Amino acid sequence: LGTGAAATLLLAGCSSPRDPISTAGTLDFANPLSVPPLAPSTVASDGTKVFKLTAEAGSSRFLPGGPTPTWGYNGAFLGPTLRARRGETVRVAIQNALEEPTTVHWHGMHLPAIYDGGPHQVIAPGDEFAPEWTLDQPAATLWYHPHVHKQTEEQMTRGLAGMFIVDDDGQDLGLPIEYGVDDIPLILQDRAFEDDLAFKMTSDAQTGLLGDTMLINGTVNPHLAVTTETVRFRLLNAATARVFNFGFSDNREFTVIGSDGGLLPAPVGVERLLLSPGERAEIVVRFRPGEQPVLKSFPQELGMSEAFNNEAGGNDILDLLQFRAAAKLSAAPGLPPVLATLEPPALKTSVATRSFILKGMYINGKLMDMSRIDAAVGAGTTEIWNVSNTDSQPHNFHVHGVQFRILEINGAEPGPEFSGWKDTVFLPVRASARIALTFGRYADPATAYMYHCHFIRHADHGMMGQFTVIET
Ligand code: C2O
Ligand code: CU
Repeated sequence: LGTGAAATLLLAGCSSPRDPISTAGTLDFANPLSVPPLAPSTVASDGTKVFKLTAEAGSSRFLPGGPTPTWGYNGAFLGPTLRARRGETVRVAIQNALEEPTTVHWHGMHLPAIYDGGPHQVIAPGDEFAPEWTLDQPAATLWYHPHVHKQTEEQMTRGLAGMFIVDDDGQDLGLPIEYGVDDIPLILQDRAFEDDLAFKMTSDAQTGLLGDTMLINGTVNPHLAVTTETVRFRLLNAATARVFNFGFSDNREFTVIGSDGGLLPAPVGVERLLLSPGERAEIVVRFRPGEQPVLKSFPQELGMSEAFNNEAGGNDILDLLQFRAAAKLSAAPGLPPVLATLEPPALKTSVATRSFILKGMYINGKLMDMSRIDAAVGAGTTEIWNVSNTDSQPHNFHVHGVQFRILEINGAEPGPEFSGWKDTVFLPVRASARIALTFGRYADPATAYMYHCHFIRHADHGMMGQFTVIET
């Protein structure tokens, strides 16, 4: 048996599905990490960069016993990495070759609501949809995934997700940027398998299904050959319910250079980094010749009851990816001391303050209603949103069409690694966040953007609301 299965066997020996999972020491990291291909593009006569994505069914081999039915874009599982530069106009011709409706949402992207790919922009089986927009935001690690109301958890679990990298001329800065060599996407997911090796689709856990098998870019039990002294990793928590507390087997310090929506003002050294579902971070890791450290997820001290911690995976210890550094590594420069200039949030001109209380599957006591608009905000205006989790389970809060700044978490300034551009903020039990949002320029009173919990089963069960951006 391969080692993903070993982790499954280990779990099967436990007395309850809520016992902590540990894959530590059970993996031999035999499989080379797969890196999603960069999506090819063509240039239309008007200069538009055109990508093609087809959502389709297939099968993938994760466990030695046989294949697992999966979905992907332009392939059987996950999708290619789209990459384009700020200022470029892109068009993505999306084909739905599935037997059910889907959508493609551009998570973290600033684009018109009609192209946002939320639950209203459904693509019927056999149909095509071709959103087109001009990239107008800093260099960032964004992603795309389906967003069909009540079916997002299912479609994401089957495998629909991919990365979208935005480059920005002013922001290359000598950072590692050679895709697949020293600039590596890491799409983190967890899965559980049925006896017939199909993905397990349901569980009783309130937060959603936690798998005992980790997939990194769709690879079980992976290693990565390192050939350069420093490597940039674009971490994407694409799990539906799992929070990762990233760190290394030797507890080395690594450097966070970017958050959800762009580079931080300056590099931040950390030993641990907590990312909830939907969040991203760019980190730079320095390697020594010949070493083989392991990227792990460590137990999380979230100040919650043991019962919660077990149910939400807070006590799990996960081996994720082994690095195999070559005997000779190509030299890499140190990081620049300044990465980006972030305007302070325009608090003085903030035009409104709103509160969002997250409890049960409700936001402000309401379940998602596709025909109800919960808020209308002014294009280009700044608002302060107070978001509180008054529940006994963790949630997070993601807002479409905008990048925001976290002003406070539980009344205190966030750590510097969370003080840059964010589109998703983690809210452990009883946590609250104060965020400042400056909405974009795409006014459209008829088409809503979403805000929701990104523990995606919660969004499916109603923990989502809608807002429009209107002319001021
Ligand atoms: Cu990543 Cu509304 O989602
Ligand atoms: Cu939630």
